[in-house]
Amino acid sequence: MKAVILVGGLGTRLRPLTLNTPKAMMPVLNKPFLEYVIRRLARHKVTDIVLAISHLAQPIEDHFGNGNRFGVRLEYTAEETALGTAGAVKNAEEYLEGEACLVLNGDIFTDLDLTAMMDFHRRSRALATIALTPVEDPTIYGLVETDDYGRITRFLEKPRWEDVTTNMINAGTYMLESQVLSYIPPQTNFSFERQVFPYLLERSEPIYAFPSLCYWMDIGTPEKYRRLNFDLLEGRSNQYQPDTTTNISIGEYSECHPTAIVTAPVVIGDSCSIGKNTRLTGPLVIGNGSNITNSSVVENSIIWQNVSVEEDTNVRQSIIANGCIIGAGSLITDSIVPDNVTVATGYRMINCSDIQPGASIG
Ligand code: GDD
Ligand code: MG
Repeated sequence: MKAVILVGGLGTRLRPLTLNTPKAMMPVLNKPFLEYVIRRLARHKVTDIVLAISHLAQPIEDHFGNGNRFGVRLEYTAEETALGTAGAVKNAEEYLEGEACLVLNGDIFTDLDLTAMMDFHRRSRALATIALTPVEDPTIYGLVETDDYGRITRFLEKPRWEDVTTNMINAGTYMLESQVLSYIPPQTNFSFERQVFPYLLERSEPIYAFPSLCYWMDIGTPEKYRRLNFDLLEGRSNQYQPDTTTNISIGEYSECHPTAIVTAPVVIGDSCSIGKNTRLTGPLVIGNGSNITNSSVVENSIIWQNVSVEEDTNVRQSIIANGCIIGAGSLITDSIVPDNVTVATGYRMINCSDIQPGASIG
């Protein structure tokens, strides 16, 4: 079984974090998001994978290469202009060699049992099988109606509230027979959600639902990205097993001063330094090479790599990206600070999410 992972979106709602870092490479407990997706495919013995990329390809290729390190074989496809979800899979057709394939939205973290889904697809002789998950607000997803036999009867992308008839939505994992690709024009922007699925349903083709209540999160917004990290720390997914005694993990070559008060759940990466009289309160993730200097307080936040939080600083409910310097005595709360930002000594930043990478603030 081959798989195509769609990693071409612009990550617009995750800006400014995604201006330098593709959504797929955003760190989740200090590992790129996409690594979880690829390792999960490998666990289900899906080892031939195409990454359909449309922009910011280099950081992805640099990290994953030919996939060897992760026990898979990776191919990459590029798009001159974004081809949409279906257009991107059509663009990967040569690698699929006329076989059925899995298609995964590349921004979803889920414990979905892929093996069970592939078995179900084969047994039901469907042309396509779509994984479903329940959500509170279907208007930001693709709503999927089914009949009593689990056959899909309607697909409505981003429905208005008045059109919401169910809380079940497209969970962004499909199993497709190769004939589906014949409905997609080559080198044309084309969408599964708005074009291919509604069209197949109009023709009464057999499309089945594979509903599941397992852990599922789309990292489309900073809030959901933070939620995902915290959910993992709290043991809500089977893809991360927190240390059951302390739920505090400290990486290699990291130093934590004995006077630091660390309250779980906390993950500290490699080569970090946590200074005297600091207070770290989970859920909290600190990336490799970051320093939290004396008397600082950091809580409910995600700190990426090589960040320096200088002394007497307060960071709460925030995301701080690579290489930032947060000046002494400052306060950062409910904010998103993109790569390489310098915040001046004593600056107060509250509810800020429109800073440009590299900026000097204050
Ligand atoms: N290669 C490529 N080219 N990938 C793309 C393109 C493209 O032009 N456009 C989007 N993608 C990728 C995105 O990177 C993402 O992984 C996936 O396709 C879905 O696109 P999003 O932009 O994230 O869509 P969405 O979140 O609004 O809605 C989709 O996901 C929901 C579940 O999270 C739809 O599939 C909904 O039906 C679904 O419910
Ligand atoms: Mg999405």
